[in-house]
Amino acid sequence: MKRKNIFFANAAFFIVSAAILVFLLRAPEETTSSLPVNENHRRFFSMESKKEAEKHCGECHAPGMTTPLPQDHPPKYRCLFCHKRNME
Ligand code: HEC
Ligand code: HEC
Repeated sequence: MKRKNIFFANAAFFIVSAAILVFLLRAPEETTSSLPVNENHRRFFSMESKKEAEKHCGECHAPGMTTPLPQDHPPKYRCLFCHKRNME
């Protein structure tokens, strides 16, 4: 590549990177409820593996259990990717 082309490639890369950074920084605040800190959920905070912890959510949050998910709940695999454990 010619020097001039390299300069323009670098400039374009810089501008695109800056635009993405600005876009990410302007993202709205997270609104999804985090994992509650209470008797029902305390044990999940000490589990290292999210996957391991998520195996137990259905004991209560499934149809016919004590606290089923709302009808309009988004796709639900990997609970803890959306409902964060707050100290993470
Ligand atoms: C032993 C039963 C039980 C288990 C197991 C359980 N939950 Fe819950 N969960 C509840 C109950 C009851 C409520 C509603 C009252 C409350 O906030 O604790 C609730 C509420 C919630 C809420 C709503 C919090 C809010 O602010 O409205 C989220 C999110 C949640 N649970 C996620 C999870 C996830 C993720 C798991 C698995 C890691 C899980 N729960 C496992 C019983 C359970
Ligand atoms: C793609 C993201 C996502 C995933 C994955 C997910 N949820 Fe949710 N969940 C939400 C959103 C958004 C709501 C709407 C209310 C809110 O902001 O908490 C919600 C609502 C809930 C509620 C109702 C309480 C409330 O705050 O209204 C419970 C309980 C819950 N989720 C548990 C779970 C469990 C258990 C799993 C895994 C089986 C799971 N969620 C997976 C995004 C998610």
